[in-house]
Amino acid sequence: MLVTGKEILQKANEGGYAVGAFNVNNMEILKAVIAAAEEEKAPVIIQTSEGAIKYAGIDYLSTMVRLAASKASVPVALHLDHGTTYNTIISCIVNGWTSVMIDGSHHPLDGNIAVTKEIVKVAHACGVSVEAELGRLSGVEDNISVEEKDSIYTNPAEAVKFVEETGVDSLAIAIGTAHGKYKGVPKLDFDRLTIIKGLINVPIVLHGASGVSEESIQKAVKLGVNKINIDTDVRVAFTDGVKSVIENQPEVFDPRKICGPAIENMKNVVKTKIQLFGSAGKG
Ligand code: G3H
Ligand code: 13P
Ligand code: ZN
Repeated sequence: MLVTGKEILQKANEGGYAVGAFNVNNMEILKAVIAAAEEEKAPVIIQTSEGAIKYAGIDYLSTMVRLAASKASVPVALHLDHGTTYNTIISCIVNGWTSVMIDGSHHPLDGNIAVTKEIVKVAHACGVSVEAELGRLSGVEDNISVEEKDSIYTNPAEAVKFVEETGVDSLAIAIGTAHGKYKGVPKLDFDRLTIIKGLINVPIVLHGASGVSEESIQKAVKLGVNKINIDTDVRVAFTDGVKSVIENQPEVFDPRKICGPAIENMKNVVKTKIQLFGSAGKG
């Protein structure tokens, strides 16, 4: 069934686990994520970036995901990932998204608060949940200094002010992860996570979680992360599946025979993530 992001994440916060939020751009990825969530009996967040909406079309994504959610045996939220413009966010609300992210993290604190507040006002009036971001997802270099960390990572006192003044339902924080493939090994600032978790009550979101070690993810969940965003690892699973058919069976030209193994590959990756995040059996 289709539910709001808030409903899924409040339960995760109370239960001390994290829910996977997987980026979806087409039917194959959507089917893989929903099948994985159903097999694991886990709540799940299907998220679409502005790029996904441009690629597939807002009407196609809305119709596909809401159909999948209505047929699913587990709670499913439809979330806009990294919304940057008022128009995109309103279009998503109008088209049935149950959760939106306003990413004002590039603004100084007051500007970020202002744009986030505006979205919270309209989204909440429509029964839609809001995620915002404070801090920047960069600085995964091995030797990042304390001063650099303080300027890039989420400041705990600012997080308190931000949540109080905006009324957001969940907050994405920067503690050392980055989007895409890592060149080195990401080192997460667990002390910062612990401090922030002790200060704010809304669920905490971790972006850029592909390629982070299982140990670090488990620790992050234990310390209070409730939503974990995964895109790159699923992209790689899709591409590996497609490549294996094309390389091993060059005579195949039926898209269904090319995409079938890719769906299976993605499903297995998503199932592993769900187990790691602690949300298996919570749906
Ligand atoms: O955080 C970004 C997501 O991985 C979405 O990427 O904008 O290329 O769809 P995208
Ligand atoms: P990855 O691509 O690193 O998994 O990040 C996904 C993400 O944060 C989407 O918002
Ligand atoms: Zn992200």
